[in-house]
Amino acid sequence: MIHDPNRIYIFDTTLRDGEQVPGCQLTTSEKVEIAKELELLGVDVIEAGFPISSPGDFESVVQISKAVNHPIVCALTRANQKDIDAAVESLKYAKHPRIHTGIGASDMHIIHKFKSTREDILQRGVDAVKYAKKYVEDIEFYAEDAGRADNAFLAQMIEAVIAAGATVVNIPDTNGYCLPHQYGEKIKYLMDNVQNIDKAIISVHCHNDLGLATANSLSGIVNGARQVECTINGIGERAGNTSLEEIVMVLKTHQNLGKHTQINTKRFYDLSAKVSRMMHMPVQPNKAIVGKNAFAHSSGIHQDGFLKHRENYEIINPEDIGLDQSEIILTARSGRHALKHHLERLGYVAEKINLDEIYDRFLVVADRKKEIKDDDLLFLMGADKKSNYKDGVTIKLLQVMCGDPLIPTSIVKLDMKDGIHEATSSGNGPVDATIKAINKIIEKENITIKDFHIDAIHGGSDDVSKVNMRIVYQDKTYNGYGFSTDIVQASANAYLDAVNKFI
Ligand code: KIV
Ligand code: ZN
Repeated sequence: MIHDPNRIYIFDTTLRDGEQVPGCQLTTSEKVEIAKELELLGVDVIEAGFPISSPGDFESVVQISKAVNHPIVCALTRANQKDIDAAVESLKYAKHPRIHTGIGASDMHIIHKFKSTREDILQRGVDAVKYAKKYVEDIEFYAEDAGRADNAFLAQMIEAVIAAGATVVNIPDTNGYCLPHQYGEKIKYLMDNVQNIDKAIISVHCHNDLGLATANSLSGIVNGARQVECTINGIGERAGNTSLEEIVMVLKTHQNLGKHTQINTKRFYDLSAKVSRMMHMPVQPNKAIVGKNAFAHSSGIHQDGFLKHRENYEIINPEDIGLDQSEIILTARSGRHALKHHLERLGYVAEKINLDEIYDRFLVVADRKKEIKDDDLLFLMGADKKSNYKDGVTIKLLQVMCGDPLIPTSIVKLDMKDGIHEATSSGNGPVDATIKAINKIIEKENITIKDFHIDAIHGGSDDVSKVNMRIVYQDKTYNGYGFSTDIVQASANAYLDAVNKFI
């Protein structure tokens, strides 16, 4: 590693601490896919698994070692030779291998987990490092439950394992117990009291049981730690680990701390979504940085301030984490400014609309719905009553027959530039029959429907249906919206709205 005291190394443990969460298990090929993404993200270390724990974990470390080139690939062990042998074997293809071995450091663990003494545990830690060092140069030592360990004993242990060859010393707050100032003081104590601390890098590994994992990691960094162990979306044992995207964005946002990483933050949003999808672990909407609402503004006061000057209500540029733009959510609390912004985005010219009148109608609908979407706005603007296209094709007549035991059949008359045209078709449902009849008239082949959503404006069986269709014609995608109290009519309107964009 390069010696830059302000460079913070990112040790990702999504595939080890994160993956050990029930329900988050991944196959080897899924782990390799994420490991490659982590390499593109720019992490310094990938903790690829705990090889002795299962043949699957062993194989994942092997395959990840083969698949990535730049990051260090790390394998976890307990402080015994069998675990270390398995880790050594699993890392044989790694370009930059690291063994992560360790043992409990708190009296709680020494007495109630190992039923042993401080002296014995310290010796076991030293022996494990010495043994691993015979095979791999880069050895990280973890002092489990260091958060609750006695600082003087911890310092003694850390000094001994560094003397035995540890290159990185991990000070885990295994149970997420520490307060930020306590954890920071612990790191400072080690910096000041471990004689050979300059021979190793201190790593922070914080759990989120009290929601303090990111704050504690930051406190550790400020006090001298140079590596952070973290996971995408903060997944991990119980309440999780420090979230990678949070700690990196903290350092990026507060540049006066003078610390930097080599992470390409623009990949955050997509990678977060991928990890969430693959691990079946939804990201909470209000999660910092990557939550669905992290860049969504919904109150009128905020929306107005945001539209005047983005930084009034945003400290991070959404583009920095890979999002195109922030979102202004239209709700009953939105003001005219936000409504106007959305209407302009949909192509309406502000000077040509009566904003006050539309705003009154908007509030009526918004009071009945949680969120007003684009198609609701189009409906408000009367898009159901007129074609958006001057010379566009419109429906003159639509008649469908369906129901058990009839074959769904549709008769369609279209008003086209050169007059009225009629066609009849059957299909596997009334909408299918109608689309087929329309296709016969417009004589366009190979139109594929990619998305077809039916929704209601207010709810209730007498409601107006709104249909959004995305169709593909000659490799181009066209979007169409349709509205009607009749679902088939709304679908036909949406289809023609899209078709009118290219015929
Ligand atoms: O939380 C912890 O203490 C750990 C160690 C195994 C590093 O995950
Ligand atoms: Zn952990």
